[in-house]
Amino acid sequence: MVAVRTLVRRTIGALRPRRADLAGVPARYHDLVRRIQKNSPIWGAHQTIEFPDGFVLKGGRDRSRFDVFDLPANMAGQSVLDIGCNLGAISLECRQRGARVRGLDYNAELVQCASEVAAAFGIKDIDYRVLDLRADRLGGRYDHVFFLNVFHHLDEHTRLQVLRDLDRVTTGTLYFEAPVKDDLVAREAVQFPVEDYVGYLTGFTNFPKIEVLASTDFGRPLIRCSR
Ligand SMILES: C[S@@+](CC[C@H](N)C(=O)[O-])C[C@H]1O[C@@H](n2cnc3c(N)ncnc32)[C@H](O)[C@@H]1O
Repeated sequence: MVAVRTLVRRTIGALRPRRADLAGVPARYHDLVRRIQKNSPIWGAHQTIEFPDGFVLKGGRDRSRFDVFDLPANMAGQSVLDIGCNLGAISLECRQRGARVRGLDYNAELVQCASEVAAAFGIKDIDYRVLDLRADRLGGRYDHVFFLNVFHHLDEHTRLQVLRDLDRVTTGTLYFEAPVKDDLVAREAVQFPVEDYVGYLTGFTNFPKIEVLASTDFGRPLIRCSR
């Protein structure tokens, strides 16, 4: 019952047109933050961004996930694909560690915001692109692929196709973050146990090693697949 109420409240909240909350936001960021808020129905910003000039855009996701990823400090010469990149927090971190990065999202406005966020860090060479997993196929080959909290946005047919594509495009490591119940507004109101996500990955990919690493913030299971 509580879950149904939460779902209804969130759905109504997501649909209601909202005025931008710019309290405490420096004037130079107003336009960007307004567009980010417009495209971030739940938290106002999905990802926290700590800008180099000290402005912190507080989002729902923080930096704590990076401790779980345990990425190399130096990623020079490595390639990264960030699927459902949102504001580009993951893309940016990998670029700052030296990787060559492509970020994809189906929301063109978010892709534009991610480019502007990166530009504020003096980074202009992240290859951000609009791609809708429901209509487009993933291409290329990457050392590291991040598929974080996107699965629940997809219908079953797309999920299976994307799993096969993730297998094909990942030469090294796939980071798969599963959603938890509070995330499931996007698609469904049940939370699969982590074993079911491992089952999806075991059934539809050929990674020799699939391990549940730990939980990220809000207890989201993080699964690492490697070859
Ligand atoms: C819950 S957010 C996760 C963002 C980011 N991966 C993270 O973990 O911080 C889901 C993201 O997936 C994107 N997305 C949803 N459906 C998509 C689709 N069909 N194709 C590409 N991106 C999609 C959304 O725009 C959003 O940025």
